[in-house]
Amino acid sequence: MAGIGPTTSESLQAGLRRLQVARPNARQLLDVPRSWGRVQRGFVDVCKRLTAGLAPWPLFVHGDVGTGKTRAGLCLCDIVPGALYWPTDLVSAVAFKPDDFVWEAARNASLIVVDELATANHCNDYEYNGLKRLLDIRDRGDGRVGVYISNLPPDRLRQYFDDRIASRLLCGTIYEFGGNDQRMVRQ
Ligand SMILES: Nc1ncnc2c1ncn2[C@@H]1O[C@H](COP(=O)(O)OP(=O)(O)OP(=O)(O)O)[C@@H](O)[C@H]1O
Ligand SMILES: [Mg+2]
Repeated sequence: MAGIGPTTSESLQAGLRRLQVARPNARQLLDVPRSWGRVQRGFVDVCKRLTAGLAPWPLFVHGDVGTGKTRAGLCLCDIVPGALYWPTDLVSAVAFKPDDFVWEAARNASLIVVDELATANHCNDYEYNGLKRLLDIRDRGDGRVGVYISNLPPDRLRQYFDDRIASRLLCGTIYEFGGNDQRMVRQ
């Protein structure tokens, strides 16, 4: 397809091929229970399209509270060797750090999932600069392979950050988690 580069990460593809196979929650946040069986089918499909080179990276994910975004991101990390899961707090905390091992890890990760974007009332310098730095690092590497998760839809994301960050986050594929708050459904 025009405009879509050779963005496929081999390890990500290999991981996605095993989507149907039950996996232990071996990698990040072991105390957060999750299973692929409860991930929205549309998210699985979009991941397959991304890794097949049929949709462009990065993937921006948004949706209402409790729709399963975080669990889906963690499930993805579970099956991709070398994947990183970073809450935005971590991005902010290292924003102005010299080029240390944290940024080295971000540069080399086969996949990075950044969660909890834009949760404060206003964007601050730490979140802004950390995120811009991360997105630019990923832009240099293997085809912007990353998943960025927020409650805010694209238009509000633009207001929260600005056009520069929005451009970097929204230049690939956008997926919305629909449905109800699954925390409430359980009660
Ligand atoms: N794949 C899954 N495996 C297991 N439980 C799930 C899964 N997806 C959703 N759930 C259930 O739904 C609840 C909400 O999921 P999750 O925390 O991923 O939502 P979220 O969209 O990230 O919410 P928020 O917008 O508040 O960050 C979880 O507490 C869990 O009970
Ligand atoms: Mg979440």
